[in-house]
Amino acid sequence: MSIPVPPKGATSHPSIPPKGATSHPSIPATRATSHPSIPATRATSHPSMPDTKPARPFFSSGPCAKPPGYSPSKLATECLGRSHRAKIGKTRLALCLDLMREVLGLPDTHRIGIVPGSDTGAFEMAMWTMLGARGVTALAWESFGEGWVTDAVKQLKLDPTVMRADYGMVPDLDKVDWDDDVLFTWNGTTSGARVPDGEWIPDDRRGLSFADATSAVFAYDIPWAKIDVATFSWQKVLGGEGGHGVLILGPRAVERLESYTPSWPLPKVFRLTGAAKTDAAGGIVGGKLAEGVFKGETINTPSMLAVEDAIFALEWAKSIGGLEGLKARCTANAEALDKIVAHRPWLGHLAPDKGTRSKTSVCLTVEGADEAFIKAFAGALEKAGAAYDIAGYRDAPPGLRIWCGATVDSADIAALGPWLDWAYETVKG
Ligand SMILES: Cc1ncc(COP(=O)(O)O)c(C=O)c1O
Repeated sequence: MSIPVPPKGATSHPSIPPKGATSHPSIPATRATSHPSIPATRATSHPSMPDTKPARPFFSSGPCAKPPGYSPSKLATECLGRSHRAKIGKTRLALCLDLMREVLGLPDTHRIGIVPGSDTGAFEMAMWTMLGARGVTALAWESFGEGWVTDAVKQLKLDPTVMRADYGMVPDLDKVDWDDDVLFTWNGTTSGARVPDGEWIPDDRRGLSFADATSAVFAYDIPWAKIDVATFSWQKVLGGEGGHGVLILGPRAVERLESYTPSWPLPKVFRLTGAAKTDAAGGIVGGKLAEGVFKGETINTPSMLAVEDAIFALEWAKSIGGLEGLKARCTANAEALDKIVAHRPWLGHLAPDKGTRSKTSVCLTVEGADEAFIKAFAGALEKAGAAYDIAGYRDAPPGLRIWCGATVDSADIAALGPWLDWAYETVKG
C-alpha cells in the first residue's frame, strides 16, 4: 500500500478515507513520478548509523518528554502520605491551580479546577453537564474530535451538526453556526492540524465554545474571552503525568451550569453543581456551582505525586519565561523539524497549510510507506535508542508524529535528521 505525499508547498491535501474506515487504501501519487510501495519486510541494507544520538530521544505525543533537568528526586514530597484535604494537600493543590493560571495568563473571569479522568474526563464532564440546552455543532478533523462526535451522537443522543475535515485539514471555520454550542479540538494531536487562532469565534456567540485544548495550552496564545470551556491534561506540553484533567470555565459556562439541568443522569465524578432545585414556576433549575473544585477541593482523591510533578513542570515553565518561553521553545522545535522535512523529498507534512499546522504534534508523511513500513521504521529507531514513539497514531494515515512541545530540546530535533535518513535507508533495504 502506498500513501500520498503532497508536493512541498502544495495547498491541496492528501485524500484520506472517510471517517470510520479501518484501512487506508492506495491513492495515486500526486507527483509526476510515482513511488511504488516500499517492501517493509525487506530490511536488507545496513547503512552506517549516525555518530550522534538525540540526548533525550523522547518524542512521544503524550505522555511527552519531561522538562529538561527533571528528576523524580527533585519533586517535593512533604504532602505525600497525607490527606489531600489536609492543609498541606490543599495548599499544594491551590498552588498548582495558581501556577497554571499564572503561566496560562488566565483572567479572573475564568475558573480553573483539577478533575478526574485526564483530558477525556474533563471534556466529557463539560459535555455531560452543559450540552442539551441548545443545538450542538461538533467539529472533527482527527481521532479525538471524532470521539466527541461519538459521545454527542451515540451516548448523549443529541443530533449535532457535524463538520469534518480530512486528516491534515480543518473544516471551514467561518461556516460554524454560533447559535449552537460548538465542540472543537484546538490542536488535533493525531493529524497535526489545528485552528489558526480564535478569530473565528465571535464575541457575541449565543452558544458556548468548548475547546479540547490538551495539546494546545502552553504552546499557543489562547484568547480566553473566546473560550467558555477548555480542558487539558498535564502530560502534553508541560511534560506532566496523566490521570488528571484540568477544566477551565468562563462566566457563560458557569451560568449554563447553574441554570440548566440535563435530562440524563450524572455520575458523581461529573457533578459540578449542588442538587437541582424547582423554581417558582415549577421548572427544574441547576444547583449552585461547587466552587470548592476551583480552589483545590477535588471531587475525589487526586494523585498528589502527579500534582507535585505538575508543580515542578510549571515552576520550570516560569523559569524559562512562562508562556512566552514555552511558545518560543515549541516554535524553535517545529522550525528545526521543518528544516529536516525541507531537505528530504521523501518526507512531507500531513498538514500542508502552515497556518493550521501544529507546532506541537507534527505529523509527517513518508513517501511510499504503509503501516508495516512505519512500524519497522519507528522500531529501528527505538532499538537504536535514537527516537522513541514516533509512529503516527493508529487511526491516522501511516506516517510519523514527532512531538515538538516545549519540553523537547531543539538540538535533539536537529539530531534526529540523520537518524530518520538512517531508518529510511535501513527499512527500504
Ligand atoms: C486532542 C486530544 N484530546 C483528548 C486526548 C485524550 O487525553 P487524555 O488521555 O488525557 O484523556 C488527547 C490525548 O492525546 C488529545 O490529544
